[in-house]
Amino acid sequence: MVIVKDQRIPRKRTYLMCPPERFAVEYAINPWMDTEAPVDAELALKQWQLLRETLLGLGHTVHVLPAEDGLPDMVFAANGAFTVDGTAYGARFRYPQRAAEAAAHRAFYVEQGWNYVEPSEINEGEGDFAYLPEAYGGLILAGYGFRTEAVAHSHAQEALGRPAISLQLVDPRFYHLDVALAALDDANIVYYPEAFSAGSRKVLAQLFPDALIADEADAVAFGLNLVSDGRNVVLNAEATGLAAKLAAAGYTPVPVELSELKKGGGSVKCCVAELRPAGQPVEPLSPGSPAR
Ligand code: ARG
Repeated sequence: MVIVKDQRIPRKRTYLMCPPERFAVEYAINPWMDTEAPVDAELALKQWQLLRETLLGLGHTVHVLPAEDGLPDMVFAANGAFTVDGTAYGARFRYPQRAAEAAAHRAFYVEQGWNYVEPSEINEGEGDFAYLPEAYGGLILAGYGFRTEAVAHSHAQEALGRPAISLQLVDPRFYHLDVALAALDDANIVYYPEAFSAGSRKVLAQLFPDALIADEADAVAFGLNLVSDGRNVVLNAEATGLAAKLAAAGYTPVPVELSELKKGGGSVKCCVAELRPAGQPVEPLSPGSPAR
């Protein structure tokens, strides 16, 4: 067998998404939201459907959480919880406008038999937490500075039994970890260093010397708000520069249009929560052959 250098192996994933059926920009809780700018609700739904079909087409499983009245940001499903090994550490939203989303997610996890941990501290789920199962035996990266309280990181560490590395976000445009950093596979990341404090940048450089480095244009195009299966990297179509860097590093960029949801301050990753069940088998998608 010929081993292709740097061949990236995709792994089958399970995701949770919520359709933007109530999506609107009715309030502004991040610098991207402009309540005066019109949103095309129909287009938002179409773009979301295409994102879902893209993930299904890559061989992944997608669960859907029904949208609820009065919760226009519920499409950003990543914020609803953070799962590792069959445990779901629940969310507690910073702003009252989104608070009720936590209960909808909680109901999903409880009903599906997850070990659900009720949070006592403000944290916005996978928006501010990332998980790398193959880095240092399983590592949580955790953001604070705008939404999640730093104290929630130690609670997540306790609930999930994995070390959580606290990283300080310093640029209000990149108010969640998942718009500044992403897991590319089970052991490596891509990030925009300037979104982090000087100390956090040093920590990232120490832990991930082989990380891919994004620039401001990549970050502003919401390129870092990506979903990767280890090979196929689904990212905002606008992020052409980052797509080229990913391709050069041996990943397969899969661009999707998400212009409408960007008006809410989110993109691919914000719409997708990864479900990591207990004793997750490492199941390659299609060994030996390209996934697409
Ligand atoms: N409008 C939402 C908010 O400000 C966007 C959330 C984006 N989600 C994310 N995971 N970054 O809360």
